[in-house]
Amino acid sequence: MFPKNAWYVACSSDEVTDKPLGRTVCNERLVFYRDAEGKVAALEDFCPHRGAPLSLGRVVDGKLVCGYHGLEMGCDGKTVAMPGQRVRGFPAIRTFPLIERYGFIWIWPGEAAQADPAKLHHLEWAESDEWAYGGGLYHINCDYRLMVDNLMDLTHETYVHASSIGQKEIDETPSATRVEGDEVITSRTMENIMAPPFWRMALRGNGLADDVPVDRWQVCRFTPPSHVMIEVGVAHAGKGGYDADPAHKASSIVVDFITPETDTSIWYFWGMARNFRPEDKALTDSIREGQGQIFSEDLEMLERQQRNLLAHPTRNLLKLNIDAGGVQSRRVIERILAQEQQADAAAPAPATA
Ligand code: FES
Ligand SMILES: [Fe+2]
Repeated sequence: MFPKNAWYVACSSDEVTDKPLGRTVCNERLVFYRDAEGKVAALEDFCPHRGAPLSLGRVVDGKLVCGYHGLEMGCDGKTVAMPGQRVRGFPAIRTFPLIERYGFIWIWPGEAAQADPAKLHHLEWAESDEWAYGGGLYHINCDYRLMVDNLMDLTHETYVHASSIGQKEIDETPSATRVEGDEVITSRTMENIMAPPFWRMALRGNGLADDVPVDRWQVCRFTPPSHVMIEVGVAHAGKGGYDADPAHKASSIVVDFITPETDTSIWYFWGMARNFRPEDKALTDSIREGQGQIFSEDLEMLERQQRNLLAHPTRNLLKLNIDAGGVQSRRVIERILAQEQQADAAAPAPATA
């Protein structure tokens, strides 16, 4: 169960090249391609002729051509032509609203009439030369809410990421969780600790000593439908922590777009945006590599957790203090789902011919 009237990251811009890309988002099988002007279109991945997936076709002169019998599809979902056939009466297939922005392609899998570009999150770091971004994509077989739980409770870092960002002070320091409208914020600050290896690398990357005590912070922000941005960083101890002058700290935003593929699988777009040494491409690469390794450590845990939950659907799970961020985020999701269901129930039934 996921909200459908929302913008989700379906793919990164560079995934849609001169070939069609097939991808399922929120249980909708979609095909993405670029037309002759380079504009991306998203259609249902279903050829109106015999139901072949259009993603197995190719793009010729900006038109999507079915790989089975050559039907040419327009970006409006209407058939353009087919060799030796009259195709004008073919029923149109469904198209999906999309926006290409910030290096991603965002789609709205729900009611097209409700797709409002103003509802797309504003990502300041994606538009500014003062920031650099590096990231990647993992496919994970788990309910998207398990990943939200994971990111809204970073005590798991001590165990899952023991050799990179984990440290015992995370468990020892309680986090504080608050809800502001649809946003859930859970934060933790640790003072006068030694930085773990990933943050030592980041300090060195910013030209700072890595062998002195630091203040470390983690501010996790959930926003619907399933985005989690985490402000993270370390500053030399006593320099103001989160508010320290940039000369004394290494900080960044962990970017997590969690897009449901099905009820039990996700496309996980992860990355890190940083505003120190943005021009340093080698640093971007080494952070991406480190983060990719760290985030790959969550995969097995989440997939095996999902399998356990599917095998024991009625077992009660425990909710501890550390789970507050995930629990509150799930409440927001449930509220939005209930609103969507109410709106669906109130909508007039579709006319039947
Ligand atoms: S199924 Fe696509 S052209 Fe026949
Ligand atoms: Fe993790």
